[in-house]
Amino acid sequence: MRIVLGVSGGIAAYKAASLLRLLTEAGHEVTVVPTDAALHFVGAPTWEALSGRPVQTDVWTSITEVPHVRLGQQADLVLVAPATADLLAKAAHGLAGDLLTNVLLTARCPVVLAPAMHTEMWDHAATRANVATLRERGVHVIEPASGRLTGADTGPGRLPEPEHIRDEALRVARVAAEGGAGADLAGRRVLITAGGTREPLDPVRYLGNQSSGKQGFALASAAAARGASVLLVSGATTIVPPPGVEVIPVQTALDMRDAVEAHFDQIDVLVMAAAVADFRPAEYVDTKIKKTHDPANPDAAPTITLVRNPDILADSVARRGSGRTPLIVGFAAETGDDRGSVLDHGREKFERKGSDLLVVNEVGVGVTFGQDSSTVHILRRPEAPGEPAPVTTVGPAPKSEIAEAVWDAVLHEL
Ligand code: CTP
Repeated sequence: MRIVLGVSGGIAAYKAASLLRLLTEAGHEVTVVPTDAALHFVGAPTWEALSGRPVQTDVWTSITEVPHVRLGQQADLVLVAPATADLLAKAAHGLAGDLLTNVLLTARCPVVLAPAMHTEMWDHAATRANVATLRERGVHVIEPASGRLTGADTGPGRLPEPEHIRDEALRVARVAAEGGAGADLAGRRVLITAGGTREPLDPVRYLGNQSSGKQGFALASAAAARGASVLLVSGATTIVPPPGVEVIPVQTALDMRDAVEAHFDQIDVLVMAAAVADFRPAEYVDTKIKKTHDPANPDAAPTITLVRNPDILADSVARRGSGRTPLIVGFAAETGDDRGSVLDHGREKFERKGSDLLVVNEVGVGVTFGQDSSTVHILRRPEAPGEPAPVTTVGPAPKSEIAEAVWDAVLHEL
């Protein structure tokens, strides 16, 4: 996709460098159009090096190529991050004093603005009116995040994380390209589990796993953007949750089970993307286990006995019984071995778990876990009993794209 990334002059301009990276790594052709003010924060060489393209701010350079018209006309998406109060005002009033504002006037593609400013400026009647005007005209203005601003102040006005801006902007472009309705999950309540559980052994140690939570968070972000009301039951992760998503942080498999059970009767879709520990230490020791834990035998290592955790997915299928609500989506982490391929093991797990869909991931060192992209096979129930489960393969693709494909499959089932 051809993307124009506009950058206006706010301190959050530095975050646009990460956003640019995410977009180019996903294979998009990105031309950066900063304003003069933006160059006070991040210089042209940074944008040129990261995009691999020349950068200009005015309409007087390369004049024979008419860049102020061509860039906007040829783009598939114009994204401005950060969009300052000044940029929003200029865009709302159709001013065209520099290259970026010209691009905004000539663009015929989706336009997404990610505002960032102090809370007082965001709340000001002039800014509110400008945002309302832009939204009425079909411009997609992302809600700013809440949190620490440039000084000691906090409140709404922060630029959302680059991953969220990327996901939302690409979704807007995709929906526009498909001529679709966009909010196709509106009115649906979904619960997504994400990340890995931690099973404590003593106050300083736990059994954990490699899950980063990225796929679960991408699913939450995509569902919220498509209009669902989203509960995200998340194991330990460092990812900032997407805006508009209610997060229930949990630690252990038992906590996760309790959170799923507490909401089970109010949801339309359950997506078990979490890497739930199958076992936990049989005993939690509430003081640190010392190296010399047995004075009679100072060199001995302790033996840890494990017990089975509940299988939340299988229990959810059993609890639902013969109905179809909630729709249940399982994930499978498979490596493939001499007994079968990733897909063979996936099909076997699909039978065993009984979910409506199973998203089979190939995992291993450097594959899927912690990565931004992966390949999945989405298995669904056959039309007639006895037929093999139909499968859709997606990827290698960014986890945000995989998330969209999973929701497409969910909608098909719903
Ligand atoms: N799952 C669960 N509760 C568990 C273990 C897994 O709900 N105690 C869910 C996961 O969230 C995922 C699916 O079951 O949706 C498959 O997880 P996976 O680890 O691939 O499968 P296991 O059932 O643990 O099987 P195995 O370890 O033998 O591959």
